[in-house]
Amino acid sequence: MPAPSIVILTGAGISAESGLGTFRDEGGLWAQHRIEDVATPEGFSRNPQLVTDFYNARRAQAAKATPNAAHRAIALLQTRHGGAITLVTQNVDDLHEKAGSQDVIHMHGALNSALCAHCEHRWPASLKMSVGQDCPKCNAPAARPDIVWFGEIPYHMERIEKALARADIFVAIGTSGNVYPAAGFVQMARHVGAETLEMNLEPGENINLFDDARPGKASETVPIWVEEMLAG
Ligand code: OAD
Repeated sequence: MPAPSIVILTGAGISAESGLGTFRDEGGLWAQHRIEDVATPEGFSRNPQLVTDFYNARRAQAAKATPNAAHRAIALLQTRHGGAITLVTQNVDDLHEKAGSQDVIHMHGALNSALCAHCEHRWPASLKMSVGQDCPKCNAPAARPDIVWFGEIPYHMERIEKALARADIFVAIGTSGNVYPAAGFVQMARHVGAETLEMNLEPGENINLFDDARPGKASETVPIWVEEMLAG
């Protein structure tokens, strides 16, 4: 039997134990900031300083954070599993990379990347971005955080859908199942007959779509699951 193809989707919950705030838990980021102010293109046009400050603060926090046992277990699975593993994250931090993961698909963008709103050139973001920063390629004063805001199209969808279409196992970790298209990946995986598993502290909005759930902290549940996968 060939090793199964696995698609792993991660969300803010996997980075919670590394000290990065989630969005929708009590006291989460969306309790402290209005989504329309800091996570939409309209919010950025209205008040670019507020949005730039918001992501500068998150970038500074992420730069100091270290991966936890869940990130490390996934990186280990990537090196030891014989079959395909597609790692998709909604997170804009780089904790999967810091744990040693390769080829992480950042469908909602990345804090360490800057994007030119004029020519779409990308470059490594400085720790502190400033409003109206020049694009190093076209010189337009149009730098913005390379984050997919509400109303924008997530990145790498074609690649993710291809991976889901040949998945044997789909696992969602630390995501509340509130934001589409990611919340719909479980349905795509089910459609091709994949086994589906959720590992979350609280059941996500789409929990009924999963075959199985392992509630708990990602740092505890994920290493156990990885050990089982590697034991075959
Ligand atoms: P949410 O904040 O919506 O959900 C985080 C989930 O993680 C919740 O279901 C928690 O129960 C769970 N959780 C918290 N701590 C955990 C732990 N230690 N171990 C396991 N699970 C834990 O975050 P996301 O689902 O990632 O998009 O949010 C999706 C998108 O909404 C984000 O990418 C962001 C946001 O708006 C954009 O900004 C475009």
